[in-house]
This record gives sequence, structure tokens and C-alpha cells, in this order.
Amino acid sequence: ALIVRHRMRSSSRWARAMAILKEFEEKCGTPVAKLKQVADAMTVEMHAGLASEGGSKLKMLISYVDNLPTGDEKGLFYALDLGGTNFRVLRVQFGGKDGGIVNQEFAEVSIPPHLMVGTSDALFDYIATALAKFVAEEGQNFHLSPSRQRELGFTFSFPVMQTSIASGNLIRWTKGFSIDDTVGQDVVAELARAMERQGLDMRVSALVNDTIGTLAGGRYTNKDVAIAVILGTGTNAAYVEHAQAIPKWHGPLPKTGEMVINMEWGNFRSSHLPLTEYDHALDAESLNIGEQIFEKIISGMYLGEIVRRVLCRMAEEAALFGDTVPPKLKVPFILRTPEMSAMHHDTSSDLRVVGNKLKDILEISNTSLKTRKVVVELCNIVVTRGARLAAAGVLGILKKMGRDTSRDGEIQKTVVAMDGGLYEHYTEFSKCLESTLNELLGEEVSKSIVIEHSNDGSGIGATLLAASHSQYLGVE
Ligand code: GLC
Repeated sequence: ALIVRHRMRSSSRWARAMAILKEFEEKCGTPVAKLKQVADAMTVEMHAGLASEGGSKLKMLISYVDNLPTGDEKGLFYALDLGGTNFRVLRVQFGGKDGGIVNQEFAEVSIPPHLMVGTSDALFDYIATALAKFVAEEGQNFHLSPSRQRELGFTFSFPVMQTSIASGNLIRWTKGFSIDDTVGQDVVAELARAMERQGLDMRVSALVNDTIGTLAGGRYTNKDVAIAVILGTGTNAAYVEHAQAIPKWHGPLPKTGEMVINMEWGNFRSSHLPLTEYDHALDAESLNIGEQIFEKIISGMYLGEIVRRVLCRMAEEAALFGDTVPPKLKVPFILRTPEMSAMHHDTSSDLRVVGNKLKDILEISNTSLKTRKVVVELCNIVVTRGARLAAAGVLGILKKMGRDTSRDGEIQKTVVAMDGGLYEHYTEFSKCLESTLNELLGEEVSKSIVIEHSNDGSGIGATLLAASHSQYLGVE
């Protein structure tokens, strides 16, 4: 007979499982001193990325947004938001000075997975079709003068080298998208061609990243918003920079003296990051090897996958789920972050939710309470590391802006607009992020730094930026 696995005694199995857990926890450690090093490294890279194109892993992309919403925006504007597994279309009617948002409607469409790795035309045709359908449903509550063309803010949440406020070339895909023929292309031209094929008459007046949209949307309701952070499928941040502090910017100095920067912080990397063997393996098997390392340990696309990888090791080496490794546990990305969140937030005394999820998703039945506790602990380790590192990232930005300490006894109020499913739905994540930021800033300073959830700010923000870059600006 062939002995596939040496049957360990149950006590030694358990000891081995605990050893794996403990080692993982140690490697994921984020003591304050380490977080400060990460924040400092972030600040250093920000300077380098602003100094020259390609000067850092942080791209520090110029958004061409030098004017944030004022509240005077008026008229009907559309937005299209593409950046994850769903895309959204919306229309907003702005009332002008003090009028605010008069009306808004949106629709959400999921993207079939094959389109994320197919051709550029197929993806943009799919989007343009959904947009055309949505536009056709515009009702009486929305008003556009008949002589005017409809205008659109295009939120495209991938790294783009902008050439103007309404054009830019895709640098590369992230978050599981991989469509070779889009790379290097102007995504606005791609969309415009697809709209034309649909017979949809619309002009893209602003091309923005979701962080930029969130910053703009946040500013519309709160003038203290100066930073935006997305924590969703991917992660990224944008902030308001002094135009003079951007050596690589050779264009005219904006009247406001400001320029919004899309950091693309998902691609941040530093020797101070607590990376484990599981992270290295995840990266090596990813569609974008060596890229988006910060994103791969923080964002929603990857957290569940990290947990799966550690569980798989525990099954293989410590027979955590019995003598054979449950086959489903070997399937990459089968454990999604929302399911992980449900397990992590299980408050029942027998961890029923954990038991059910393990059964439903991984086909592992009859788990003991002890085993379920290990799963919860694992979720906690992974999420704590992600949330604390995200807080360190925010500290890095505050440092760059000079808003991390009091100057002459005064601390400028700063609001960080946050959005994304991970932040919004994973309570343990957002709680940990906020408490860590306070811990890093200290009691005095943290009073002046506020995190605000900006619910779909990025869509509204894109319509606002479409409005402020309308071809009819100044035309009554
Ligand atoms: C990825 C994209 C970035 C986006 C972020 C959040 O990091 O590269 O552009 O802002 O995800 O959606």
C-alpha cells in the first residue's frame, strides 16, 4: 500500500497548525515603529515620483484636475465608472449655486469575467451598449437644452498617463483585468469609438481615476477634503498637491496653484513591508507579477486569497481538515473577501457562520470549534495587517502635505474621503484603520484629521468634473 500521508497524532497535528499560525502572525506584525518606517518610505517615494517620470514605483500621476468642485456646477451630466467587477452609469442634475443635486439616477452592470481578459473592442462595446440603454431611459426629471450634446465624466480606475483632462493612455491593467490591446491606448478614444458604433452621441469631458472622482465628490460636500483613499477591489489614494512642488510638471502653473495627484499607491513597495512567503507565492502566480505589492496585501481582491493560502498550508502540513486536503481549498480566489468578512464578524458562540461558509464554499464539513477559531484568527491577522498598512499610507500623505503635526500650535483640519467595498462593508477593517491612524497621529493631531465615508463619491465627482470641463462653460 502506498502511504500518501503520514498520519500524525492529533496533538502533534494541532501543534503544527499552531506553529504555522504563529509564524504567519509574527511575519505579519505591524508595530507602530514599523508603520512609521512605512509612512516615511511612502513620503520619500512620493517626492521621487513627483520629481521625474519613472522616478519611483509610485507613479504620482498628474490628473489635470487643478480646480475642485465649488458647488456652482449646473446642468445634466453623466458618468461611467469602470474599475472593478461591476461598472456603474449615472446621471446627475445639478442645480447651480446652492442648488445642489436636484436629481440623480444610476444603474449597475456586472462585467462578465471573460470580458476582463478579452479584447478592447469587446469590453468597450459592452460598456457603451449599457450606457446607451441607460441614456435612452432618461426621463422628464432631467433637463438638457435641445441644442446641447450630452457630456460624460469617465471614471476609469486603472493607471493612466493623462495627456489632458479628457484623454490619457492606459499604462497597464490591474485588479485581474488583462487586455493587451488596450495597453498604451487612449481609453477615451476607445470609449468614443465604441459609443459611435452604438450611435450614442456623447462627449467625454473628463477622464478621472476613482480616487480623483472621490476627492472631487468629497470636496463638493466638504471643503476640507484634501485626500481621497479607495479601499475596494484595489487600493489607491489621491491628494491635493502644490503645483510648484511637482518638478516633473512642465505645463502652465494653474491659477489655483494646485494639482490633484493620483498616487497609484497600490504599486508602492518597500523593504519595510511585512511580506510573507504566502504573499510572494500569490504575487508569483498573479497576472501582474512584481506589481501592485501594496495592493496585494491590503485590498479586497486579495485578502480572502491570502487566508486561503495559509489554510491550504495548514491542511497540507498539519492536516487541519483531516487526512486529505479538501480539493476546493486548492482553487485560487475561491475564498472571497466578503465571505471572509462574514466569517470574521461571526458572533455566534459556536461560530456557526464560519462552519457554514467552510461547508458551502470549501466543502469542508464538521469542523470543530477549535478549527473555526483558527479561521477567524487568520482573518484577523490578514485584515489587521492590511488596515494598519493603509493607515500608514495615509500618514505618509499627511507628512508630505505637512499636516501630520501642529505648526505653531495650529493644525489644519483635513478630511480624508474614503470609499470602496472593503472600507464600507468590512467593519473590522475600517475600525482598525481608524484606530491605527489615531494611534499614529497622537491625540492632539488626530482631532483635526477626519475620515469621512464618501458614498459613491467617485461617480458624482466624475459628473462634477464633467460639468466644470464642459464645452458649454460660460455659455448660457
Ligand atoms: C487599482 C488601480 C487604481 C485604482 C485602485 C482602486 O489600484 O490601479 O487606478 O484607483 O485600484 O480602484
